[in-house]
Amino acid sequence: MSGTNGQVAHLDAVEKPERGLHSLTVRDFRNIESASLSFCNGLNLVHGENGSGKTSLLEAIYCLGRVRSFRTHHADQPIRYGQSAYQLVGQIVAQGGKLLPLGIERSGTGLTVHFNSEPVRRLSDLAGNFPVQILSADTTSIFNGGPRFRRQTLDWALFHVEHSYRELWQRYSRALRQRNAALRTQSATRLIRIWDEELLDAAVGIDRLRREYLEELSVLLSTELVALLPGMEVRLRYQSGWPASITLSEALAANLEKDRAQASTQYGVHRSDFQLQANNHEVSGHCSRGQQKTLLVAFLLAQVRLQHSRRTPLGAFLLDDLSSELDVLAQRRVLQALQELGVQVFVTQIAGDSVDPADWGEFRAFHVEHGTVHEVL
Ligand SMILES: Nc1ncnc2c1ncn2[C@@H]1O[C@H](COP(=O)(O)OP(=O)(O)OP(=O)(O)O)[C@@H](O)[C@H]1O
Ligand SMILES: [Mg+2]
Repeated sequence: MSGTNGQVAHLDAVEKPERGLHSLTVRDFRNIESASLSFCNGLNLVHGENGSGKTSLLEAIYCLGRVRSFRTHHADQPIRYGQSAYQLVGQIVAQGGKLLPLGIERSGTGLTVHFNSEPVRRLSDLAGNFPVQILSADTTSIFNGGPRFRRQTLDWALFHVEHSYRELWQRYSRALRQRNAALRTQSATRLIRIWDEELLDAAVGIDRLRREYLEELSVLLSTELVALLPGMEVRLRYQSGWPASITLSEALAANLEKDRAQASTQYGVHRSDFQLQANNHEVSGHCSRGQQKTLLVAFLLAQVRLQHSRRTPLGAFLLDDLSSELDVLAQRRVLQALQELGVQVFVTQIAGDSVDPADWGEFRAFHVEHGTVHEVL
């Protein structure tokens, strides 16, 4: 990578990460009955006809990293029809290049996760082992989805880049659950407000880290947009989850009777949101569909760059149906950026020829046919 400006030079200083997915064994996931594949650290290109199983392969990789699908909220939906469970076992490239096994078994009745041969009890303990990102038509847009989706986007990113965030988030969630339980049982005010101190303490930390993250992201996003959508100015605006004119402590006190009536806490960081404005307009009403996709790419790339600058690099970036999602300029830009950052990439497309593997030091191609995946040698 050549250092032509300050930002690129800075990234040059960060050694290319040894992260990613070394190999994967899939059993009974969607239309893939069984597959055993080894990947390279660079570009992994997956092609095949419509309905062959390309997105299913990416979904399996995503499920391994995030223990949930990007296509459905029904956790057992990917189990192959007629089967009772799916299994995914990957060899994850950990820091220092060490390979560690990560295994998931999902049946209609439950989930079992093993990392490095130990059972994993709390999924938040898995964070950072194999962080994956996806761009696909199924990805709910950060522009059109509800606040919950944007909060998840923020939380997922912060779990990786801020070590203190997970603990704050767990403390906040616990205090909120207890406070809501006290509201539901119509407890005395004293027994409700007993949780406020813990809630407020964790909320202050979460609020600060989210604001700092979005400020940093906003700078990186603007840089991406210079190349991808010249002339578009985007603002990221964070909303705390309580009225801006008062503190959370005041909001909780003032709203106690309403909280009692609704049996839940109305104000707090569990209600926060952020908005993206393009040229001072709402993105969903102002930008074309193509611009929204490009903006999403810029947003995801900015996130990847931020992760790298904090030395918590991404495990793999999955690009589903790349050529139908993006124009040629955006396709080139996203692939070039990921290549420079040393991120492992998986790309699916119907024909195998619109991505040029020449720029990639490491490249592997796979062909999918009726759920059978073969490496093309
Ligand atoms: N739980 C399941 N069990 C078995 N097959 C399934 C299951 N869920 C979906 N399928 C089938 O898996 C097949 C592959 O779907 P997939 O979305 O992976 O194809 P694709 O190669 O990405 O196609 P496209 O090019 O159209 O995006 C489809 O025919 C679909 O009907
Ligand atoms: Mg597909």
